[in-house]
Amino acid sequence: MRLLAVTVSLGAALLVMTTAPSYAAGGDAIFKKSCSNCHYTDGPAKEKTIADQLAKKGPELWYAGSKFKKDWLTAWLQAPKPIRPMKYNSITDKNPGDHPKMSAGDAAAVTDFLMGLKSAEVKAGVIKAEVSVRGRKIFTKDMPCGGCHEYSTKDGLLGGKSGPSLAGSSKRLNPDWIYAYLANIKVFKPVRDMPDFGSVLGPKDIENVAAFVATFE
Ligand code: HEC
Ligand code: HEC
Repeated sequence: MRLLAVTVSLGAALLVMTTAPSYAAGGDAIFKKSCSNCHYTDGPAKEKTIADQLAKKGPELWYAGSKFKKDWLTAWLQAPKPIRPMKYNSITDKNPGDHPKMSAGDAAAVTDFLMGLKSAEVKAGVIKAEVSVRGRKIFTKDMPCGGCHEYSTKDGLLGGKSGPSLAGSSKRLNPDWIYAYLANIKVFKPVRDMPDFGSVLGPKDIENVAAFVATFE
């Protein structure tokens, strides 16, 4: 009986090893094959014109490890849902929501690869998600953030659709990255549609609004 159990589990282990080659392949190799046509992963940003930006259909991922929360990334790669309500870099077409889906094994391997891509511009562990009166006022009244970005409130989704949706930022985005992006957007997006707020808002206000964006459910 005992011998049989050992044989069966050994067989099962061999079966796992031979039927899951995706665990063996590195996330960087999978990415190169299936994803690199549409995403830049080499940084810092070299795009100088909108044509450079549009040479890749998807957003640049060279700072993915500073931008995303790891658990969100693994889950999204297996079940992607639109983030940009309009077709990427366009305000005319609706996002078709047809992003490639990955298996759990490939998503885990590619997540490990992408989380290793960091930007030195992002200081870790400084900004904490927080609803402050000041942060809310900057986002909803003083600055036109809500005109371009969808965001969540207790009364449901509000806001515009020309920028990426910020609903779900609490699960998706690293608060320190939101701060760095607002403070020095040129590092991440030399060519872009979003205005540069680094010269409009002081560091304390950027901290407040970044902390507020990081709370959206
Ligand atoms: C045909 C082009 C295309 C391919 C191939 C592709 N992507 Fe994308 N990707 C996009 C577009 C377009 C978006 C923006 C989608 C949105 O905002 O709704 C996107 C969004 C993303 C995002 C979210 C980025 C952000 O800043 O919001 C990640 C992460 C990502 N892709 C990873 C991958 C991985 C990993 C692969 C390989 C399996 C891959 N992509 C293959 C076009 C592509
Ligand atoms: C005129 C429209 C517009 C305004 C106003 C605007 N944004 Fe944006 N925002 C965009 C667009 C478009 C992008 C995508 C990158 C690009 O092309 O510039 C973006 C990107 C972002 C991102 C990164 C999202 C991601 O997933 O990559 C954050 C965070 C953000 N904006 C926050 C803000 C905040 C906070 C404000 C107000 C202080 C603001 N935005 C005002 C259009 C706008």
